[in-house]
Amino acid sequence: MQAPPMKRLLDVLREECGLTGTKEGCGEGECGACTVLLDGMPVNSCLIPFAQAQGSVVTTIEGLEGRHPLQDAFVVEGGAQCGICTPGMILAAAAIPRGATLDEIRLGLAGNICRCTGYTSIYRAIEKARSRRHR
Ligand code: FES
Ligand code: FES
Repeated sequence: MQAPPMKRLLDVLREECGLTGTKEGCGEGECGACTVLLDGMPVNSCLIPFAQAQGSVVTTIEGLEGRHPLQDAFVVEGGAQCGICTPGMILAAAAIPRGATLDEIRLGLAGNICRCTGYTSIYRAIEKARSRRHR
């Protein structure tokens, strides 16, 4: 993959790779809408220059295997409304360990803002999907 080294990872994903599941909200590291996993860790792709991601594994919402239990749980529990925050929420949630407490889930999502849901349905969805009964 070739791209200008200082181009934002967010723009490389959307414009060079055609992976438009990663969303832009604030564009300055405040909202978490652009969250992707970089070697398994959630990062704001609007703050990461492409050069910094080279040699790392980048996982976007398109890269979650099959239909992830988190996606099903968000649908069932009403964790998505307008959907702008949802890909970032799901990727941040994917990095939360199974069996996490509600406080741990809140902490794991501290960098992700949702203007629609009031968060309760998001937390419920993650508790359900990340319970020890699910993968
Ligand atoms: S768009 Fe990256 S944190 Fe808001
Ligand atoms: S569902 Fe609209 S911002 Fe979260």
